[in-house]
Amino acid sequence: MPYEISAKVLNKIWLSKNTYLLELFAPQVASKAKPGQFVMLEVPGRFLRRPLSIAGVDGNRVTIVFRVVGEGTKNLSLVRRHTQLSAFGPLGKPFPTPESKAILIGGGIGVVPLIFFARELIKTGQNFELIYGEKSAEYLINERFPDIRFRIFTEDGSKGEKGTVLDGLKITKDDVIYACGPTPMIRALKRILETKNNTCWVSLEQRMACGIGVCRGCVVKLESGYK
Ligand SMILES: Cc1cc2nc3c(=O)[nH]c(=O)nc-3n(C[C@H](O)[C@H](O)[C@H](O)COP(=O)(O)OP(=O)(O)OC[C@H]3O[C@@H](n4cnc5c(N)ncnc54)[C@H](O)[C@@H]3O)c2cc1C
Ligand code: FES
Repeated sequence: MPYEISAKVLNKIWLSKNTYLLELFAPQVASKAKPGQFVMLEVPGRFLRRPLSIAGVDGNRVTIVFRVVGEGTKNLSLVRRHTQLSAFGPLGKPFPTPESKAILIGGGIGVVPLIFFARELIKTGQNFELIYGEKSAEYLINERFPDIRFRIFTEDGSKGEKGTVLDGLKITKDDVIYACGPTPMIRALKRILETKNNTCWVSLEQRMACGIGVCRGCVVKLESGYK
């Protein structure tokens, strides 16, 4: 069950170009949050809250990592410590537990929910690989999470391997794939997997208004119809 709360900003940290980490004091959300879930978080000066994935929990704290793309996230990047922000969560379906090796694919800021998931997989001793790509090194956030091993790709080759996350994809028949990133990446992944029988879970970062399935604002068109 999601909670309607007022979350105190405990910490704000600049991670990389246009990208920030917020630590929120949010005990109820922290106690229930699972990897793959998100919160609807107030952004100062905007009427609608914004959906942001949970990057991790630590005791009473919930970590959010976001990239500035518009007014709302810009305003969020300017909040000061001890600001109270209204929040609603945790929301969304958690990632299902893999039965075999998990391949986690994070394109850009889409890596955020996979960071939380990777930590859970480490805790439970599951075999996994986390492939993370950005346009260039200046956007990378992996150094903030030294406990997780990332396989890094940058499109311009400024760090890690040169290319996109999908260039690094080597899957065997039982691997379970979890992907979060821009729509072109998800489409390209679908083409790669068309001839394979692997299970693949994707987390779509659709624009949202309510976050709870009421307004139909986040509906996406699938081959099987609208969802
Ligand atoms: C379930 C979910 C989880 C998310 N998790 C994260 C996260 O962990 N970190 C993070 O940085 N972002 C995340 N997002 C995206 C984030 O919600 C948007 O970037 C944010 O709402 C933009 O608000 P804004 O006011 O800054 O931009 P707006 O002024 O609303 O829009 C500015 C620009 O950003 C684009 N934009 C707006 N919303 C999205 C979106 N959902 N996806 C892609 N582009 C968008 C618009 O098309 C426009 O070009 C998530 C989205 C969803 C649905
Ligand atoms: S945002 Fe998905 S139904 Fe309202």
